[in-house]
Amino acid sequence: MRLTFTITRFNPETDPHPHDEPYRLDVGRGMTVLEALIRIQHEQDGSLALRYSCRSAICGSCAMDINGSEKLACRTSIRKELERHRQVTVAPLRNFPVIKDLVVDMTAFWDNVRAVTPWLSASPHGQSDQPARPMTLSRDRYQFHNVDACIMCGACVAACTSHEVSRGFLGPAALAKADRFLADPREPVAAKHTRLRFLEQPDGIWDCTRCNFCVEVCPKDVQPMEAIIRLRRAAIEAGLTRSGGARHITGFIGLIRLGGRLNEALMPLHVVGFNFRRLLRVVPLGLRMLLKGKVPSPLAPPIPGIAQIRSIFDSLSRLTRIS
Ligand code: SF4
Ligand code: SF4
Ligand code: FES
Repeated sequence: MRLTFTITRFNPETDPHPHDEPYRLDVGRGMTVLEALIRIQHEQDGSLALRYSCRSAICGSCAMDINGSEKLACRTSIRKELERHRQVTVAPLRNFPVIKDLVVDMTAFWDNVRAVTPWLSASPHGQSDQPARPMTLSRDRYQFHNVDACIMCGACVAACTSHEVSRGFLGPAALAKADRFLADPREPVAAKHTRLRFLEQPDGIWDCTRCNFCVEVCPKDVQPMEAIIRLRRAAIEAGLTRSGGARHITGFIGLIRLGGRLNEALMPLHVVGFNFRRLLRVVPLGLRMLLKGKVPSPLAPPIPGIAQIRSIFDSLSRLTRIS
């Protein structure tokens, strides 16, 4: 079958903008997108730049945008793409600067991974050269939730809605890596606390919008968003509740326990606190909600059956203490 591939080409040294170029190629059964790209490079246009190595979904170097979604080219079947999209378009990963054509600059990605201290630390500051406590890990007992399967392909960062608007965000891959080390029992509690204190800063765990795109595109089922949720839970359990994100959760829980429902009139006080300047910033939103009838009275009584709701909270906190 003869097929047209549309490839986004861009050489920042000579081109003012990226542009699409069509390539016609005879494709065989079972061919992958990477195999097609290599043939195009060898047979039609030697200037096409792409990155690959293992061709077996192991090295993570061939991640790119295929038909609008982040995939490993070496494990993407052309037949399946045609069945779903009736075409094959290939572009570099989004959210990364392009070096040339399909090759992106991963420098910021690796900087973020390094920033989360992706090694076991014996000291609270993560700088000691002393090894962490020796201990034999049993897979049955210690769970890394498949986070250690990450091949650092960058697909999740390219798909990340938060990274798209805030390039400082540590991103799903780095945060998943942080979760892997937080889960490791060989690291002392004090070092874990330092880890969490770093992660709760702006651009860290609370900047994830929980859009789930990182989970959808990950070729190794790492589920970075779930890792971020575990980190958030660990931060709150460690008493790190001063950030806006943590206060949103604790405020929400506090209000449900108090009245059995979310009270939007009181929520800003829980999230922002009695900070007059920051409260002023939410006043326009509050007024709009008030006009639409979305703000209940701050003095609204608890809902009927509040005793049962409180007893659920009590049981849960007992269970958490036991586990
Ligand atoms: S869930 Fe969070 S980390 Fe994952 S893509 Fe969305 S914003 Fe990014
Ligand atoms: S978490 Fe998944 S998508 Fe993200 S870098 Fe690792 S393997 Fe790739
Ligand atoms: S070439 Fe190694 S993951 Fe695709």
